[in-house]
Order: sequence, then structure tokens, then C-alpha cells
Amino acid sequence: MKIYLDNGATTKAADEVVRAMLPYFKKYYGNASSLHDFGVKAKEALENSRKIMARELNAEPKEIVFTSGGSESDNLAIKGVVYANKNKGNHIITTKIEHPAVLAAFRELFLEGFKVTYLDVDKKGFINLDDLKKAITQDTILVSVIHGNNEIGTLQDIEQIGKICKEKKVYFHTDAVQSFTKEKIDVKKMNIDLLSASSHKIHGPKGVGFLYIRKGINIRKLISGGKHENNTRAGTENIPGIVGFAKAVQLDKKLNQIKKLRDYMINKIETEIKDVKLNGDRTKRLVNNVNISFKYVEGEGLLMYLNDKGIAVSTGSACSSQSLEPSHVLTAIGLKHEDAHGSIRFTLSKYNTKKEVDYTIRGLKKIVSNLRKMSPWKKGTKFDHKGVYYHEH
Ligand SMILES: Cc1ncc(COP(=O)(O)O)c(C=O)c1O
Repeated sequence: MKIYLDNGATTKAADEVVRAMLPYFKKYYGNASSLHDFGVKAKEALENSRKIMARELNAEPKEIVFTSGGSESDNLAIKGVVYANKNKGNHIITTKIEHPAVLAAFRELFLEGFKVTYLDVDKKGFINLDDLKKAITQDTILVSVIHGNNEIGTLQDIEQIGKICKEKKVYFHTDAVQSFTKEKIDVKKMNIDLLSASSHKIHGPKGVGFLYIRKGINIRKLISGGKHENNTRAGTENIPGIVGFAKAVQLDKKLNQIKKLRDYMINKIETEIKDVKLNGDRTKRLVNNVNISFKYVEGEGLLMYLNDKGIAVSTGSACSSQSLEPSHVLTAIGLKHEDAHGSIRFTLSKYNTKKEVDYTIRGLKKIVSNLRKMSPWKKGTKFDHKGVYYHEH
């Protein structure tokens, strides 16, 4: 049995998506910039997909710029707006729980001389809106706050953040890679200026995404070349990918079904396994996210034993799962090193079933119990500041 519970990392492409894409490889393979019929057909598909994205956000089609995915969208939003609006100031604001695509872009800007404020979050992963208000100064250009956190699922109040940014006249970018189509987003009502989305998190193909850019915002191109995408991002558009992404947006999301399964899973883990803690907020969280700390257990060990049973999960965000550093998100919500290391992220999709969740929890119970028996780490074990345990004699 193979059970995929790592849908926060990526998802399986839906059959409908693959079917929709196929004609654009061998039949309608024109370049959307070409003037002949092949090009016109590609252009039609491109503009139709743009409309579908815009409708989903209550945006206008020309406010959608297709990219190679969430990472590029984040970089384009942050560096593109900051470089084009340098005359407004040299201060930018983000949070301590962003995806590496955002954090790395901020780090580069910091190294180039911009001042950066990293907002703290509380134990559930929420930023404090007063902190945000206080952080914005005359010099602030941009605020970037993730909508649905990829590790712990916490959903920020982006409507309130948008309101504050509008009042203070600073640009507001949100990384909505995990929340797009899972949460209702209205960029007008929520005063969002820039929003990143990615196809492969919603059963679309990999390597395609978009950045919503409110009209009138000056942005500097990061990829130079032709005048594609409203002269904002050069490069022949990935028509099959974009068509697949648009199809994915239109599919039945079965959000209630996923949410029910999420709550069933949380509740069952909490009742059947001792010494566990749910990370993030119980209700204001992504419909598909279950993040649990298992005390006295090493997350990597748990992941490998689950993998032996055919169950795929994650210990941190996809990009940092190669590293042994505790996750910056779990550290930011105040988890100690040892608890952060014992955390597992299960992320569901509409293709998961209750049977799969039951099977997973049966496996989990056994593995957690065995690992706890083997582990020298017990109640009362002390840890040094790096999370290395020691026993007092
Ligand atoms: C919140 C968030 N932002 C950005 C990204 C990057 O998206 P992509 O893989 O499409 O570059 C991810 C993917 O893990 C994500 O979860």
C-alpha cells in the first residue's frame, strides 16, 4: 500500500489536468507570440487561462503574470517591487515564518543595504497586527506576509494586514502558494497588491505559477528578454503548463471532505497516542494540514519507518527536509529543539481516504511506541541549548 500524505510538498496531477494539457504538446504547440494560426490558438489558451486565474481572485486578467512557480513569483514580487520603488525608501517587512523563497529574497536585499524587519509570531504562528503597525515607517516600501503557512498551516488575517498596509500606503505581498483555491481570496476586498500562487500544490503540473500584480504598481523585470506577460516576465509562455494550472483551478476541490479528514486525523492522533501536540491553530489552519510534535521521538526516524510502510510524510517544509537544523517556523512558534525535531507534517488531498488515515495512525502508534522504547530520551531528560541531551548524575 502506498499512501501519500505530503501534499504540502507537491500533489499528484489530476487526470483532468493531464487530459487538458495533452493537445498543447503536439497539436496546438504554437508560440503564443506568433501571428499565424498555431500562435493564435496558443494565445487563446493563454488568455483564457489568465481569465480563470483572475476570476478566482476577483482580479483583472491583465493583473496576472504567469511564472515558473511560487519561488519565482515570490522573488518577482519582492525584488521587482523593491527595485522599482527604491525612491520611496529602504525598509521592508516580513515575518519569521516565511517560505525560504521569501526569506532568501529578503536576505539578498538586506545584503544590498535594505533594512529588514522580521515580525515575530505567537505560539500558534500569528503575527501581531500592532507589531506590524508599529514596524511600518516613512521608509517602508513593502510588507510580505505568508497567507497559509506551509509547515504549520496557520492562516494569517490577510484582510486586516491588507487594510493596515493600505492605510499606511505600503505595498502588501502575500505568498498564497499553499492557500490559493483552498481559501476564498478577494484581492480587491482584502487590499492585496501582490499575490504568489503555484500550480503543483493544487493537482496541476510543476514549474508553473503566477504573480498577481495590482494594476498601476511599478515592478522591475527579473528575467530580461522579450515583452511577454505584459512586459513583466520574458520567456515563451509554458502553454501546456498554464492550461493544466487553469484546469486544476476549475476542478472540484472537495474542501469540506479534506477538512473533515484533517479534523478526524488530528482528533484520532490526540486520543490514541500519548504526549503529542498539535502545532498551529486548531481552526484557522489550512484545510489539509496536520502538524504534530511527538515527544521523545526523532522526526527523521519516524519518517523513515513510515516510509517503510509506504506512507509519505514530511518533517519540515519540502525545501528544508534535507537539513538537520530545526525548522525556522517551529522555532519561531517557540518549540524547543527537541520538540521541533519530533514534529511531522501530514498534508492531505481530496484523493486521501479515511481508510488511509486509519492505516497511517495504526502504523504511527506502533512506530512511536517502538521508537520511544529504544530512545534514551525520556520524561525528565535534559537538553543543552543545541538540543543535545544529557543525563544528570
Ligand atoms: C508557501 C510556499 N511558497 C513558495 C513555495 C515555492 O513554490 P514552487 O515550488 O512552485 O517554486 C512553496 C513550495 O513549497 C510554498 O509552500
